[in-house]
Amino acid sequence: MPASVWPAIDGIAYGGDYNPEQWPREVWREDVRLMREAGVNLVSVGIFSWALIETSAGVFDFDWLDEIIGLLHENGIAVDLGTPTASPPAWFFAEHPDARAVNRDGVVMGFGSRGMASHSAPAYREAAIRIASTLAERYADHPAVVMWHVHNEYGVPVGEDYSPHAQRAWRTWLQEKYGSLDALNAAWGTAFWGQHYGVWEHVGVPAAAPSVVNPAQRLDFARFTDAQLRACFVAERDAIRRFSSLPVTTNFMANQHHGCDLWAWAREVDIVSDDHYLWAADVEGEIGLAIAADLSRSVGGGKPWILMEHSTSAVNWQPRNIAKRPGEMARNSLSHLGRGADGILFFQWRAGRSGAEKFHSAMLPHAGTESRVFREVVDLGAKLNRLAEVRGSRVHADVAILWDFESFWAQDLEWRPSEDVSHDERIRAFYERLWRDNITVDFALPGHDLSGYKLVIAPAQYLLRQADADNLNRYVEAGGTLVVSFFSGVVDENDAVHPGGFAAPLEPALGIRVEEHLPLRAGVTTTIDVGGASHTADIWHEHLVVSEAEVRATYVDGPGAGMPAVTRKRHGAGTGWYVSTRPDAAGLAAIMAEVYADAGVAPLDAPAGLEIVRRTGDADDYVIAINHAATDAELALEGVDLVTGRAARGTLEVSAGDVAVIRTPRTAHGSGR
Ligand code: GAL
Repeated sequence: MPASVWPAIDGIAYGGDYNPEQWPREVWREDVRLMREAGVNLVSVGIFSWALIETSAGVFDFDWLDEIIGLLHENGIAVDLGTPTASPPAWFFAEHPDARAVNRDGVVMGFGSRGMASHSAPAYREAAIRIASTLAERYADHPAVVMWHVHNEYGVPVGEDYSPHAQRAWRTWLQEKYGSLDALNAAWGTAFWGQHYGVWEHVGVPAAAPSVVNPAQRLDFARFTDAQLRACFVAERDAIRRFSSLPVTTNFMANQHHGCDLWAWAREVDIVSDDHYLWAADVEGEIGLAIAADLSRSVGGGKPWILMEHSTSAVNWQPRNIAKRPGEMARNSLSHLGRGADGILFFQWRAGRSGAEKFHSAMLPHAGTESRVFREVVDLGAKLNRLAEVRGSRVHADVAILWDFESFWAQDLEWRPSEDVSHDERIRAFYERLWRDNITVDFALPGHDLSGYKLVIAPAQYLLRQADADNLNRYVEAGGTLVVSFFSGVVDENDAVHPGGFAAPLEPALGIRVEEHLPLRAGVTTTIDVGGASHTADIWHEHLVVSEAEVRATYVDGPGAGMPAVTRKRHGAGTGWYVSTRPDAAGLAAIMAEVYADAGVAPLDAPAGLEIVRRTGDADDYVIAINHAATDAELALEGVDLVTGRAARGTLEVSAGDVAVIRTPRTAHGSGR
């Protein structure tokens, strides 16, 4: 383990990716001067610099890197030093053409972009370890370097790789997992469509085929891909640790890329770091942001984390790249901070003139310092500087939403009952209700110890291992409140339907059986009766058979007409709810109001659009208030606003679009994670 788990930086880390190699040296001096003006104290350097550091195999040029790291140090700016292994140089692919990744259609990736290496190619792994150890050996004791940034966003742009190297590694991985072909044939159900294997050499990567490829094989391939990527990270991390005790991270993409099982990854990094970009098409992108932030905190077991990248304004890679409006960057940043981030960094420091990302915003935009964005960057730096004491404080949640990458991998395969069913959409819907009620959420796996939570929600737990179902049943029996949404508990770890039928493993807690799925045609809406009030529901009905539960909502029309739509069962000391359709927002709110009452959780009394999160420190609490609304808001609160220095005497006022961080007396919490 590293000597220190948090990089040696005072207060909240602030800065971004810095790519000095794209600029002449005279610009570097201006960069560091402006970084100081903006309050920048940490930059990530060298992430895409492999070709300029190792100019040919084993030949290194450190002059420019020494110089810029030295200059940053002289100016009091710490360095998060990258290993540039996300983009190997041209010479590497010229020497190792076989180390290029191959996509599912058999297309070999070309040079001139980034991320085209096969993570299973021995030459790639060797070269990656060589550059990581060389950098670590050289800079481990440099006083500017405070942490290591391995690679960049594992899994993007290349995750699954169908190259010959991947093929070989895949067979080895399967042999280790299954031991025998009999076990593999059984797990994959290869009796179906005559896929039985008699010889290991016949087991292939699940490349494009005439029709749907065995879903268990594809699910294993997703696991294998995740494992290969993680092995690359671990190899680089361990190479660094031979020379350095500084913390090592790699930047995740919580809630934006599901290819890496971040629960497993978080165990391997010293500090969780995450990249988050708003989806411009989402007019309430702050809710997706909150999901990503809560997930980043949760996978790290609640410890503070670093927002490694976000944008000051527009990105450049979406169909329509929408510029952030005044104040939005600060609101986004404070929302991450409120949800546990102790570092707020951006992609990138200075907007690049050339290359594919020239239309991406930056801390220092093309327009220069006389710009709204730069003024807001300087202002944010000053704000964060005043929040130094928040660092290290924790976020407490009474509610957990289940988030299981493995289940997503399985659910996203082909030939599901309805293309309208999406785990992201269901998680967002339940999360959104809690976000609007200002109830803080952790994410969790179904196998976790959930006993600290008053309420656990499973919006999309398609794949559910029997042991994890047992855990959920026990959680309810011991007094917890569990809400399960449709298309959950359907298959086991091999994507095989559970014996006893859909959702059978959860029957003890829920008291229902799902006899048949009844998906709806596109655009069809139906009515459900929730406690005497009518609400609409769409995409999905189910034929539920109630063994031992109360019916809390009924299908009025549609294929489930007359049947139960929502049920509630007292099980042991707790309660199990089942929601077999997609209610509209008002219908879900009505159901959740009853659920809250069962669980003993309550919405916070705050105006709509005022996002409130609380961090708990050793001596004080910090209430982070973010006003997303176009009107000023008030909240009953006593304390001091660290942003403005003003006292909140009983009432906190947050102007439209503004943020506040109130130091307030510490509250006692229950036993959440
Ligand atoms: C990230 C990536 C950065 C940059 C950024 C642009 O996913 O790590 O290198 O490309 O996107 O939004």
